[in-house]
Amino acid sequence: MDFTLTEEQLMIRDAARDFAKSELLPGVIERDTHQQFPTEQVKKMGELGFLGMMASPDYGGGGMDTLSYVLVMEELSKIDASASVIVSVNNSLVCWGLETYGTEAQKDKYLRKLTTGESIGAFCLSEPEAGSDATSQKTTAIDKGDHYILNGTKNWITNGNSSDYYLVIAQTDREKKHKGINAFIVEKGWEGFEIGPKEDKLGIRGSDTHSLIFNDVKVPKENRIGEEGFGFKFAMKTLGGGRIGIAAQALGIAAGAYELAKEYAKVRKAFGTEIINHQAIAFKLADMYAQIEGARLLVYKSALDKDTGNNYDVSSALAKLVASQAAMDVTIEAVQIHGGNGYVKEYHVERLMRDAKITQIYEGTSEIQKIVISRALSKE
Ligand code: CAA
Repeated sequence: MDFTLTEEQLMIRDAARDFAKSELLPGVIERDTHQQFPTEQVKKMGELGFLGMMASPDYGGGGMDTLSYVLVMEELSKIDASASVIVSVNNSLVCWGLETYGTEAQKDKYLRKLTTGESIGAFCLSEPEAGSDATSQKTTAIDKGDHYILNGTKNWITNGNSSDYYLVIAQTDREKKHKGINAFIVEKGWEGFEIGPKEDKLGIRGSDTHSLIFNDVKVPKENRIGEEGFGFKFAMKTLGGGRIGIAAQALGIAAGAYELAKEYAKVRKAFGTEIINHQAIAFKLADMYAQIEGARLLVYKSALDKDTGNNYDVSSALAKLVASQAAMDVTIEAVQIHGGNGYVKEYHVERLMRDAKITQIYEGTSEIQKIVISRALSKE
């Protein structure tokens, strides 16, 4: 497997690195403290093409491969995981889902705006009582001929208030279980569609997470994605790619914390020398580096699987499982290496540690990734 980066991939990676340092780093602590959405920064990311990277240029996208997207996610996440989750949801769940399964009319109407960042989108599957067990959702979409009537509540929706368009998964025929589920494009502002209060989160506090309430929302039939009953498969397929983006986010969080810890260890002195010269610290750094490099191989492999047309259900689950564990372990050690300074905001590592935790929860918990992997193994 060849992971040598092309000139183009190096260019896009460097552009993301420069952007993260010059535009995301200033203000990242403020945005985290006050839960401020990075409105200006998202606008600039749209101008740079980061919001529709893999979508076809026919719809205003960048036409890039998944590895380029992973490189961008990694660089943004080193500095600001709140900004990178906005990029991830918009690219992998919303744009990819619409481009792959939407009708021409849906793509014309919605995708163009989403790829350029003129609008952003949200993916709405989780519910108060259905996060991991996605078929048990209670939101209903009742078929009324030329439209559906949507009722229910969705929870923990990334880009919840800042989106214009929402891909909503709902149950049309409960008896048919997963085959009775549909996915719809719902527009902000439609009658009966309310945005609930913002969640006060542990990490990724600059991102905008809300519950959504649907009270008799009329959704035209032409806004259903795919054939009747395709909604569960739509969600599963889309989440498979989404997991690559979140795995890349986890990798970036780990790499960002590692770089900060290494630089700190080179200048901080204790017992007469820089702490990097103490084996207790040097071994920690070696372990952190080993976990990051291992995770990176899995993340790049899952991107390559997607780009070469291989099945990536298992490789994306593996990448997310391992990279999110690396993010957690590495950020905890980065705080430890910083000692007392690691516990204060100014040094950034405490934020990265808080941000890391969500990568083990959203787009399927680590336990869900193990279900996906172990089911595939049992069929071998
Ligand atoms: N691709 C295509 N079809 C798939 C599939 C996949 N990856 N996975 C399952 N299916 C199909 C199955 O083939 C089956 O269809 P048939 O009966 O026609 O064969 C159907 O879906 C049902 O499959 P299962 O019985 O395996 O379904 P399950 O519910 O038992 O298990 C699961 C699947 C993996 C546990 C799944 O429910 C799951 O992934 N849950 C987690 C949901 C999740 O990730 N939520 C996160 C919310 S989104 C988010 O976090 C976004 C954000 O804001 C950042």
